[in-house]
Amino acid sequence: MTAVSTTVKRVGVVGSGIMGSGLVEVAAKAGFEVVLRSREQAHADGAVAAFERSLARQVDKGKLTDDERTAALTRVTATSVLTDLADCDLVIESVVEDLAVKKHLFAELDRVCRPEAILATNTSTLPVIEMAVETGRPDRVCGIHFFNPAPMMALVEVVRPLTASADTIATALTFATDCGKQAVEVADRAGFVVNALLFPYLNNAVRMWEQGTASMEDIDTAMKGGCNFPMGPFALLDLVGLDTSLAILEALYDEFRDPNYAPVPTLRRMVAGGRLGRKSGRGFYEYHR
Ligand SMILES: NC(=O)c1ccc[n+]([C@@H]2O[C@H](COP(=O)([O-])OP(=O)(O)OC[C@H]3O[C@@H](n4cnc5c(N)ncnc54)[C@H](O)[C@@H]3O)[C@@H](O)[C@H]2O)c1
Repeated sequence: MTAVSTTVKRVGVVGSGIMGSGLVEVAAKAGFEVVLRSREQAHADGAVAAFERSLARQVDKGKLTDDERTAALTRVTATSVLTDLADCDLVIESVVEDLAVKKHLFAELDRVCRPEAILATNTSTLPVIEMAVETGRPDRVCGIHFFNPAPMMALVEVVRPLTASADTIATALTFATDCGKQAVEVADRAGFVVNALLFPYLNNAVRMWEQGTASMEDIDTAMKGGCNFPMGPFALLDLVGLDTSLAILEALYDEFRDPNYAPVPTLRRMVAGGRLGRKSGRGFYEYHR
């Protein structure tokens, strides 16, 4: 380990949704102490229980020993109390993709966390600088953007807002590498690299279906077979979550005013109707949990 990475031993994760839960698994398996904070203790406990089940599956498949499972589990604490993050060296927030909520959270984290701690966001698109300036330590704020599902996806985008110090970015890059990920450094532009390129494609797939070019199943089949993608656009939108996808497109459109980013009407209607994808049991497809 480099001198920089030894500065991060204890990691806070805020939010126990799809990504928060995944981040806990990634960081705990990489050997970091992890404090998971959710607004409800039951949700934090639920995420740890899901982690426990995931570890058990890995033991069953021979990918993990019993001792490794026990060690990973003992590194995780679940809480609903924000001040339990006070001893963390790095806190990554992964709450709903809503700038007002994130800005409020950064101001709160700034109050409870040690002044040396790095505060990071897992936002998919939102301006990291706006979160940084909510704190008294804008030099120690950056984006650390994992992909879904976090334990499986290789990439992390480390996002550098104008205010971030070189040390902060170096520490974030080392943390991502220590988590076993490939890290790329990107500027603080909506969508960074991956979502800026991916979301016009996903949005246009829904538009194509609205226009009657093909069924959603056939569009998914076409993109898997024709481009060798592991899943088609509708399955991917359901995996990401349609509410999160809508928020991503809105942030991209807000920044670039490119019509390819303007969310198609179907997406808005589905979110209004509570069809959020896998996490709600129904999106473009139905899921039985
Ligand atoms: N879903 C993806 O594919 C994906 C991939 C990479 C990054 N992200 C980003 O990760 C973050 C979380 O996304 P997710 O997919 O885990 O969403 P999710 O809907 O699964 O979870 C959202 C979490 O935010 C919490 N939350 C909701 N409203 C809140 C509020 N007002 N105050 C505090 N917490 C609140 C929820 O309780 C939940 O724990 C977002 O910034 C998203 O853009 C998502």
